[in-house]
Amino acid sequence: MSFPVHRPRRLRKTELLRSLVRETRLSAANFIYPMFVCPGSNVRQEVNSMPGVFQQSADKIVEDCRDVESLGISGVILFGLPETKDPRGASSLQKAGVVQRAIEAIRKAKLNLVVSTDVCLCEYTDHGHCGVIENGEVANDATLEILAEQSLSHARAGADIVAPSDMMDGRVAAIRKKLDANNFQDLPILSYAAKYCSGFYGPFREAADSAPQFGDRRSYQMDPANAREALKEVALDLEEGADMIMVKPALPYLDIITRVRQEFSVPVAAYNVSGEYSMVKAAAQNGWLDEKRAALEILTGIQRAGADIILTYHAKDAARWLKD
Ligand code: PBG
Repeated sequence: MSFPVHRPRRLRKTELLRSLVRETRLSAANFIYPMFVCPGSNVRQEVNSMPGVFQQSADKIVEDCRDVESLGISGVILFGLPETKDPRGASSLQKAGVVQRAIEAIRKAKLNLVVSTDVCLCEYTDHGHCGVIENGEVANDATLEILAEQSLSHARAGADIVAPSDMMDGRVAAIRKKLDANNFQDLPILSYAAKYCSGFYGPFREAADSAPQFGDRRSYQMDPANAREALKEVALDLEEGADMIMVKPALPYLDIITRVRQEFSVPVAAYNVSGEYSMVKAAAQNGWLDEKRAALEILTGIQRAGADIILTYHAKDAARWLKD
């Protein structure tokens, strides 16, 4: 039976009807807002390629976090712009490191936010790679202990979730073991399990000052052409003890989000990355797109594809728009 018995337009007639049958509903409770912490105090510097996104000192981060909390957003993820960089990313392990101090400041302000941290070396190494370099290559095993120590340091500062984004093999196991050995057996790991080597990280590398100084990340981040491999990466990270997994970027990888959602029963996060944000911003500033419509459509698409959690620079805007 089809037309004229079936007329799908019947259920599109009014906003009330459309709302009644709507399958996907965005909520700020599922958003995580990424933030960039820099040294100093009273610093709030807008990122050129990401209008509305700032590098901020810990005091300003706390102020911003109050907004984030009041908008009903569940959490933030912190990235660090350290004072110093070296080949091994030592500044990522300091008790008084930028991220550690920001976590403590947020904790002190008693904000009702889940504080996650990005665990990686690229922001802290002078060469900008996500692991240490041996014989001109990013060395996997030599990097694991540093990532584990970094996670522990974030945990000690008061992080609620650690989120490794480096794409070294075995890092989830190394982090889990280190946390468990130090009484952090209850601290969840959100692993960037299917992280692709993407052109859409461009603006982030300006925001986090983390562009590789030689070569690229193809030897550790995934080839954009591969889907089965993403399922393997997710399965491995879950075996190693990841509590939640992430697909990143989001838009060119909606199929991956869907497949991961179907095959695994853990919470799936998707990272609506910097380039995806900047494209919308740039087009909107030129009057080519309606920012609110485009951004909400993108976020809806990411959730519809199967993401439970969305990391997005549009989190605050979207939370406001959802309230209107
Ligand atoms: C690496 C990291 C990157 C992003 C998050 N963690 C960049 C990279 O792999 O080069 C990208 C996020 C974004 O583009 O918004 N620590």
